[in-house]
Amino acid sequence: MTNFWAELKKPIIALAPMAGVTDAAFRLVCKDFGADVIYTEFASTNALVHGNEATRKMIAFDPGEQPVVCQIFGSDPEMYGKAAGILEEMGFAGVDINFGCPAYKVVAHGGGVSLMRDPKRCAELVQAACEGVKSIPVSIKIRASICKENCDRKDPANHVTALDLVDAIKHLSVAAVMIHGRSYEKPFDGETNTDVIRQVKRAFKGIVIANGGIYTPEDAKRMLDETGADGVGLARGVRGSPWLFKQIKDYLATGAYKEFSWEERKQLALKHSAAALKTKGGWGIVEMRKHLAWYVHGTPHAARLRAQLVRVKTLKDVETILAE
Ligand SMILES: Cc1cc2nc3c(=O)[nH]c(=O)nc-3n(C[C@H](O)[C@H](O)[C@H](O)COP(=O)(O)O)c2cc1C
Repeated sequence: MTNFWAELKKPIIALAPMAGVTDAAFRLVCKDFGADVIYTEFASTNALVHGNEATRKMIAFDPGEQPVVCQIFGSDPEMYGKAAGILEEMGFAGVDINFGCPAYKVVAHGGGVSLMRDPKRCAELVQAACEGVKSIPVSIKIRASICKENCDRKDPANHVTALDLVDAIKHLSVAAVMIHGRSYEKPFDGETNTDVIRQVKRAFKGIVIANGGIYTPEDAKRMLDETGADGVGLARGVRGSPWLFKQIKDYLATGAYKEFSWEERKQLALKHSAAALKTKGGWGIVEMRKHLAWYVHGTPHAARLRAQLVRVKTLKDVETILAE
């Protein structure tokens, strides 16, 4: 197996998957700022196996992004095996399985975090993916815990935890685990549970990437210190500030990092918009609206700029508004 995970320099700073955000243009921007591993948006195993053109387009990547891991979701082992094989043929460096998504449309079809309720079933899916590839590594993304069905959500004894899942897959050749230290019940808010991440790091032999609530270089260092993880996964913290990858690396190496000026943000927003236009055509600029709003967040006149940027249709629109 060509396990790229084992060859990465630690700590690994990864771009975590975000549906609707981590498209090719944004991934390239993050790579430029030093992201060590890049995850795609999640893709349906069924869609991949049935040759859905939109899904293939969504996960298409530039060789310059490597190592790129494609994340998949679904509930049928046969589909996992086939989808993993397709991804290997497409040239991905790894395949990741989503056991963390709380979105209704995924959970309602028996995928995402709901699978964590049945660790044995998760192991079957992971095994199918491992058997579907010849030489690329398989990884998983999990949450701290999920309550069992119809139970008292406040009673910790009624939860399936990340440790239960890691125990169930320990006999399989899983190369890495990204753990989001929040439960299904508190999907995106509140404290990240660093205890459970530390326990997973002790229990799992492969690479452990800690995720949840990292917005600053100091957050990243604290996460690494408290969990002993091999790296961190960045999600909302890099929306509108992809330079966080560089800041974290600088801070870990020297204890200091530089802030990015408004001029630098503007240049980056333009470069990102041009990449979006190149990869997705005119629709790429429409999809850039949210990124542009994130780029101007916290700057003087942010509200006025945002009101204009959420209506852009062309690269020229972006240039004109940012030049004002
Ligand atoms: C808009 C959005 C889309 C996401 N999509 C995915 C996804 O496709 N797969 C996945 O495993 N996690 C997904 N996540 C979860 C993130 O990868 C991450 O685990 C979570 O946001 C916690 O990290 P943070 O606190 O740094 O944002 C998504 C999160 C957001 C905000």
